[in-house]
Amino acid sequence: MSSHAAPRPLAARRSGPLKGRLRVPGDKSISHRAFIFGLLTIGETQIEGLLEGDDVLRTGAACKALGAKIERLGEGRWRVQGAGLGSLLAPQETLDFGNAGTGSRLMMGVVGGHAITARFDGDASLRKRPMRRILDPLELMGARTLEQGEGGRCPILLQGAAEPAPIEYRTPVASAQIKSAVLLAGLNSPGRTVVIETEASRDHTEKMLAHFGATVKSEAYGEAGRKITLEGRPKLSPNPVIVPADPSSAAFPIVAALITPGSDIVIEGMMMNPLRTGLLTTLMDMGADIVELDRRVEGGEDVADLRVRASALKGVDVPAARAPSMIDEYPILAVAAAFASGETRMRGLHELRVKESDRLAAVADGLRVNGVDCAIEGDDLLVRGAGGPAQGGGMVATHLDHRIAMSFLVMGLASQKDVRIDDEGMIATSFPTFRPLMASLGADFA
Ligand code: S3P
Repeated sequence: MSSHAAPRPLAARRSGPLKGRLRVPGDKSISHRAFIFGLLTIGETQIEGLLEGDDVLRTGAACKALGAKIERLGEGRWRVQGAGLGSLLAPQETLDFGNAGTGSRLMMGVVGGHAITARFDGDASLRKRPMRRILDPLELMGARTLEQGEGGRCPILLQGAAEPAPIEYRTPVASAQIKSAVLLAGLNSPGRTVVIETEASRDHTEKMLAHFGATVKSEAYGEAGRKITLEGRPKLSPNPVIVPADPSSAAFPIVAALITPGSDIVIEGMMMNPLRTGLLTTLMDMGADIVELDRRVEGGEDVADLRVRASALKGVDVPAARAPSMIDEYPILAVAAAFASGETRMRGLHELRVKESDRLAAVADGLRVNGVDCAIEGDDLLVRGAGGPAQGGGMVATHLDHRIAMSFLVMGLASQKDVRIDDEGMIATSFPTFRPLMASLGADFA
């Protein structure tokens, strides 16, 4: 298991108006997938704009252990020489994914569909996360779980199927990670793999499958779902990947600018994939002054520059159906809600309990120690905003969770008193340049 360095506490202070332009790093979901598709493709895959965060680098290390040659050419520029679908090596060492749920789950799909055995492990946070949701469908395809921690958690020893059975699988929760694991295992199946989701989750795997030449069909299913059909054993051909800016990282400067009086910033090149923009929809409902400046297509995704100005926000009711399109953004939305006037109710947040931390509890605790009136009712989070600066003054427990750390630092920039977090270390998993980029806008950390 990977150990975590000594905790590094950090405080955020009430700051002057945030001003300037910035581009946040590349999308984490696409970056993981870029390495994985590079591994599965014979030939050279060029990647531009890769997120060089710990989570993605762990996936890169796992891809190397399975036979890829990976080289860094410059900032965000990488080259992968793949081993090829069906020709992966059995890794000699444990695949240590650190904090990375996405990397570990997607790679379980890859291993599950190959005649190799691999051990998966990670840090204390990853060891708490449910993996049965991935192992169950992989076992249906013929993989075997040889060893597992309590409740099907890491460490896990997984023996892949030499000839994965084609299955039709309904995901029990709207999860792109489950969908992706099944599709990645299905890539090496001699037949057709079908995944049905009753609520659409992010579609980066499907898009990348098509980008690398697989035959994949995605159709509407029911009111809000998708049915994805993949033909097994395609010939994958290398194709460069250009990674757009991560909307889940952009969420932090966006909310910081909205709640810090007088702010006026521009976020450049943010991915506008509709399965990722639920936070923008919600913030607009709350009265946020966000203007799209230049929508264009980059690397197969819609992107836009966004001008964000400080705004008087009002509380809203966020429907459960929006959760998949903003699943990682609830902690920072809860911070925005603490500054809004009136009540915000965020519905249907059960999946937040099994993220890098129990985010529902971690957010509510963090809000409370900073004087914010909030409640958890079933799967809903209720925040009664101050209609202006939150009180602040609290020390927030981050529980090895990067998004809890960044959310409460943002809160401190506009609260009456400093907000402290117990550890900034995990921010490096998804947004290693958070501190200097935020400081370049005028954020005051100490
Ligand atoms: C991700 C999917 C989401 C998200 C995670 C990244 C992905 O998880 O929370 O940060 O890249 O597929 P679920 O789809 O399992 O909710």
